[in-house]
Amino acid sequence: MPDIIAETDRLILRTIGEGDAAEHDRVLNTPEVMARLGGTLELHEIEAKHAKSMALYAREGFSFLFMIEKDTGELVGHCGMKRVDNPLASNVGDHEIGWLVRQDRWRRGYAEEAMRAVIDWAFTSIGAPHLVALTSEANVGSWKLMEKLGMERRKDLDFSDPNYPAEDNPTIQYSLTAQAWESQK
Ligand SMILES: CC(C)(COP(=O)(O)OP(=O)(O)OC[C@H]1O[C@@H](n2cnc3c(N)ncnc32)[C@H](O)[C@@H]1OP(=O)(O)O)[C@@H](O)C(=O)NCCC(=O)NCCS
Repeated sequence: MPDIIAETDRLILRTIGEGDAAEHDRVLNTPEVMARLGGTLELHEIEAKHAKSMALYAREGFSFLFMIEKDTGELVGHCGMKRVDNPLASNVGDHEIGWLVRQDRWRRGYAEEAMRAVIDWAFTSIGAPHLVALTSEANVGSWKLMEKLGMERRKDLDFSDPNYPAEDNPTIQYSLTAQAWESQK
């Protein structure tokens, strides 16, 4: 049984379980959603990501999660926290938050609603010292959300990643401290 990590007005954030990859593939793995994330994945790649999330949750008590819409019970997004694991980054091991929402639910405030709960969880239950988020200049919706969440642009943490196309380079970073988070509440 998955664990429920948080409940917001419209969403339930729950851990990922065995057998969730097919629904993830069907609902979230679309060209539009994955456009700035290196493109769509093969099912086995989603399964591998889920296995990593489950292992991280078992080991450290946090991971990426499924965002479930309360009204319908449907999967509407994938978000949560992991550790920076790109070896090209200078801050490998930092607590990294991230998000994606299925396209027919964009601009309803779901990503922001979910991430406010994830950030509270990260600082209060997990005790993360600070959070970072990674994106590219071209992913305007994503970095605007980072700014809306009060995150600070960290040019010192940017890095080039040849695994992404030119238009998604460099990878840019934002960060947030617990103190900054509390002070904006
Ligand atoms: C980025 C993404 C998760 C936003 O999800 P969402 O649920 O539509 O976002 P919200 O409705 O919660 O928006 C919150 C804020 O983010 C910003 N934002 C979100 N989408 C935006 C867009 N397309 N253009 C500009 N700003 C945007 C705005 O500041 C918005 O606040 P506002 O509505 O008051 O202006 C969604 O567009 C997505 O899944 N994109 C594809 C996957 C992806 O690139 N994920 C990020 C990887 S780094």
